[in-house]
Amino acid sequence: MDSVLLVVHSLMRWVILVLLILSISKSYAGWKTKKPFGPGDRKTWLFTLIAAHITLLIGLYQVCFGRFGIFTSSLPEGTKLMKDSFYRFYWVEHPVGMIIAIALITMGYGMAKKAVADETKFKKAFWYFLIALILVLASIPWPFRHIIGRPLIPGM
Ligand code: HEM
Repeated sequence: MDSVLLVVHSLMRWVILVLLILSISKSYAGWKTKKPFGPGDRKTWLFTLIAAHITLLIGLYQVCFGRFGIFTSSLPEGTKLMKDSFYRFYWVEHPVGMIIAIALITMGYGMAKKAVADETKFKKAFWYFLIALILVLASIPWPFRHIIGRPLIPGM
């Protein structure tokens, strides 16, 4: 069960990255061409929000009860959390970076419901999604990252 959740959590990064890039390009196009906000834009933003929230729920479970969870594992004898690059990443840097990114995605989607001009919706959402994308990219344990790196596709 835990390993299935980890695979889903890991694969969801690609879904989120594709949807975020789509949301960013649609917001930018809408903002610059002054196009009316439509159901297609709303749907893209909504799918991005759903994908991010599913990943958040699995992540919360993993950080509490997963194989390296706060309640199910412990720091190596004699180390301090902030001095251990592995646990500092998986218990602090990754969750905090991703939670901030998901909050920004939620605020981006929130623009769809705001009673403001369409140009403002697109412009604000563009910035929220763009900063979220940068944070997600910076918080993923890419394979080239020392100690914390994981494969691009689980099991590879
Ligand atoms: C946009 C959101 C997120 C993305 C794209 C993401 C992506 C990833 C990736 C790619 C991995 C490596 C999986 C592997 O081993 O192949 C991972 C691991 C992990 N993530 Fe996330 N994550 C996100 C949000 C979160 C959040 C919000 C938390 C906690 C609150 C979290 C907690 C964890 C933990 C604890 C692991 C290590 C699990 C283990 O090795 O057993 N993640 N994440």
